[in-house]
Amino acid sequence: MEKLRIPRLVSGIQPSGRLHIGNYLGALKNFVNLQEEGGYDCLFFVADLHSLTEDFDPQKKREQIFSLTADFLAAGLDPKKSTIFLQSLVPAHSELMWMLNTITPMGELSRMTQFKDKGGVLRMVSTYTAKEGTLNIPDERQNSETNVGLFDYPVLMAADILLYSAGVVPVGNDQDQHLELTRTLARKFNRKFDEVFVEPKPLHTPLPRVMSLDDPSKKMSKSRPEGCLFVDDEPEAIEKKIKRAVTDSGSEVKGGQDKPALNNLLSIYSNLSGKSIKEVEVEFSGRGYADFKKSMTEVICEYFENFRNTKAKLMNKPSTLTKILEEGSAKASKLANKKLAEAKSAMGLGL
Ligand code: AMP
Ligand code: TRP
Repeated sequence: MEKLRIPRLVSGIQPSGRLHIGNYLGALKNFVNLQEEGGYDCLFFVADLHSLTEDFDPQKKREQIFSLTADFLAAGLDPKKSTIFLQSLVPAHSELMWMLNTITPMGELSRMTQFKDKGGVLRMVSTYTAKEGTLNIPDERQNSETNVGLFDYPVLMAADILLYSAGVVPVGNDQDQHLELTRTLARKFNRKFDEVFVEPKPLHTPLPRVMSLDDPSKKMSKSRPEGCLFVDDEPEAIEKKIKRAVTDSGSEVKGGQDKPALNNLLSIYSNLSGKSIKEVEVEFSGRGYADFKKSMTEVICEYFENFRNTKAKLMNKPSTLTKILEEGSAKASKLANKKLAEAKSAMGLGL
């Protein structure tokens, strides 16, 4: 196995809609910090193959890919410092996935929380016949809409990581189970065939979990756009959304256990302004929600002003985005193809 000078780090985001401030604070901003720390050889990719597992409009996919690439760059990811690439331009991902499929137990995949949450519960129906005893058969009615890609999603993710011998993978807790499977598959492959893969570790940085603006009991999520603040929202939209954001009873700008809505707003404010929550509370003591929301709108507008302008410019230059993705994907392919060749040889494939 090759020796790496500095640990390699890989992560990806699906191009499946506009990025909201939860994606930004909970993922992208962290990618930029990790790149700037300089302690890792970073690869960041647009996970377009993964994004096919949910309903999508093929007419919009290209736009979504460009939009996420522009988000990466506008947020500060830099192709001179990190390899930025498009998953589907590196065919080794799909190829290794197939090979890993053959050592992945179906049982492990059917236990994945994300698969179950997305509606893919493989329910077994017990049917008893006196002659044959109990038969467990999948309930077809429950599964008619579930595609195999959703089931196999974690194996593609394992391929994404193992191809690059990544030691660390920055992901949210929701992806831990997938990373554990990646480790299991690496171990199993190495034991069964040859020492080819590195077992990756998740990299958890304490990151805020951003809640919906209209319902602080729910995570901000693209599946509920009404509660989202998007990173490329125009100032008028930001103002409207913050004005409308739900608050708790009372009028004091002070967080607390029984103040889920305010805690969320304070956390966003604090993360974007660089001030601690305590400092923000002191700043607004004796002032009401209206003042706080006005200031919060300004903080958000200002924070993302540069981002918005840079992104708008990039979206007008698809050739620049294409070039960055093509060059990054060529670099990634070199690494990936080398690892894929090792894995094929270990499995006895090829001539
Ligand atoms: P998703 O769009 O759910 O695939 O998420 C992409 C990335 O953003 C993942 O790393 C998530 O952990 C992160 N993320 C998504 N929603 C939130 C949220 N509301 N708060 C914090 N991080 C989030
Ligand atoms: N599943 C990840 C998410 O939803 C995205 C992803 C795909 C990923 N492949 C990956 C993250 C490889 C890290 C490494 O957030």
